Amino acid sequence: MDSLCMAHLGPRKKRPRQMGGSMASPPQDIKFRDLVLFILEKKMGTTRRAFLMELARRKGFRVENELSDSVTHIVAENNSGSDVLEWLQVQNIKASSQLELLDVSWLIECMRAGKPVEMTGQHQLVVRRDDSGSPSPEPQETPPLALRKVSPYACQRRTTLNNCNRLFTDAFDVLAEDCEFRENEGSYLVFARAASVLKSLPFTIISMKDTEGIPCLGDKVKSIIEEIIEDGESSEVKAVLNNERYQSFKLFTSVFGVGLKTSEKWFRMGFRTLSKIKSDTTLKFTRMQKAGFLYYEDLVSCVTKAEAEAVSVLVKEAVWAFLPDAFVTVTGGFRRGKKIGHDVDFLITSPGATEEEEQQLLPKVMNLWEKKGWLLYCDLVESTFEKFKLPSRKVDALDHFQKCFLILKLHHPSVDSGQPDLQGGKPWKAIRVDLVMCPYERRAFALLGWTGSRQFERDLRRYATHERKMMLDNHALYDKTKRIFLKAESEEEIFAHLGLDYIDPWERNA
Ligand code: CTP
Ligand code: MN
Ligand code: MN
Repeated sequence: MDSLCMAHLGPRKKRPRQMGGSMASPPQDIKFRDLVLFILEKKMGTTRRAFLMELARRKGFRVENELSDSVTHIVAENNSGSDVLEWLQVQNIKASSQLELLDVSWLIECMRAGKPVEMTGQHQLVVRRDDSGSPSPEPQETPPLALRKVSPYACQRRTTLNNCNRLFTDAFDVLAEDCEFRENEGSYLVFARAASVLKSLPFTIISMKDTEGIPCLGDKVKSIIEEIIEDGESSEVKAVLNNERYQSFKLFTSVFGVGLKTSEKWFRMGFRTLSKIKSDTTLKFTRMQKAGFLYYEDLVSCVTKAEAEAVSVLVKEAVWAFLPDAFVTVTGGFRRGKKIGHDVDFLITSPGATEEEEQQLLPKVMNLWEKKGWLLYCDLVESTFEKFKLPSRKVDALDHFQKCFLILKLHHPSVDSGQPDLQGGKPWKAIRVDLVMCPYERRAFALLGWTGSRQFERDLRRYATHERKMMLDNHALYDKTKRIFLKAESEEEIFAHLGLDYIDPWERNA
């Protein structure tokens, strides 16, 4: 687990020499053939240089490891033109008149634009013949403000799965998770919000200047970003990943049915591995945990898109057998466009069903699957929904709809007649499935609430409360000023009630 996590954390300080070479992109990736870049290490440092080289190559630039005659642009940081020329002299290289000497700000603008940008006087390094100790050029202006108008609310940001700042967000996700394990809500929010805002940026943070004007980045967060820019990793994240408590909680909570309380108990009792826990005869497990251990391997290996689609076919078949007019919608991560998930979430609603029929649907579906032998685990939670209940004030409140938390036996499509496959493995996989049944007139609220992400949902509710004096949850939207419930037939209408631009599901990966 550790080594896997560390793989995301980029270059290590101790082996900088290899980096340029190992990260070189294949020549077919070069988009801009007129330019040959060389990035000067002096005053920039090996790690930052390697980082910029890799980034530029990813964006289609040709970047040389060594200075050669083919180089057309030299990029330097904190060096004047005279400094660079002096360095070239020491290297015994004669600078041709066509050679461009540029400040790193030019490269950064190119990275942001995804192509070479025009070189202005701002970027060109000044060579002063008689003043070798000249100061470096004036600090560059920060990029246009429009680029940086980022809302502090996730529901006002478009966050696709195309994350340009994974190096940073992986780090903050780990720190947030550690705080969650310690039930430190305040620090959890600090790190979760930082990760969330960075996921929404259309550019990669490569210097501290890039963080200016971005909300949700406090001093603590900024110091971690700075460390990652300089060293490629954060010592604090490293410490968390190596921490025994974090590792144990991560392991224990990976079992279906095991939460913080149980993890805490097992950790205090001195357990560190699942096999010791499973074989301990004094421990008592819930039905959920027993299922969690029984199907552990299947459940930790994520659900693929293809598996989600196969489950979707089963759900629709079963639902339509009893309520042919029902709408069955995939929600959760798969609706947001994720390629894998820890479960598959569905929202079911029927325009024509009576209350009685509505209440009977999930039990009927469970009964059907039970008979087929597909129900490996089932927890049916009855509805506590009331029409005129005000939306919950809590951002993480559970909803009141009837629902099932399931583990379903999904047979592999390639195997005919249920015969075990040739490797001798079982011909099926255990899959976590959540089914939610809601009254038809609440479907927009339920859909919005169950699509996530968690951070997006939190901020929708926070926004409603603090910016609109409204209360939103998975069931309803209430206007406190007008003292009325606002109805909605679609998610678009809910966004409109809140005065928000509509954000598509695949842009809610906050
Ligand atoms: N949700 C909820 N009430 C719950 C559980 C979940 O409202 N009791 C909502 C959350 O807002 C969450 C969404 O349903 O965003 C889906 O939950 P979950 O399956 O836990 O997360 P996903 O975003 O689907 O991610 P994953 O791929 O890990 O399943
Ligand atoms: Mn899910
Ligand atoms: Mn779920």
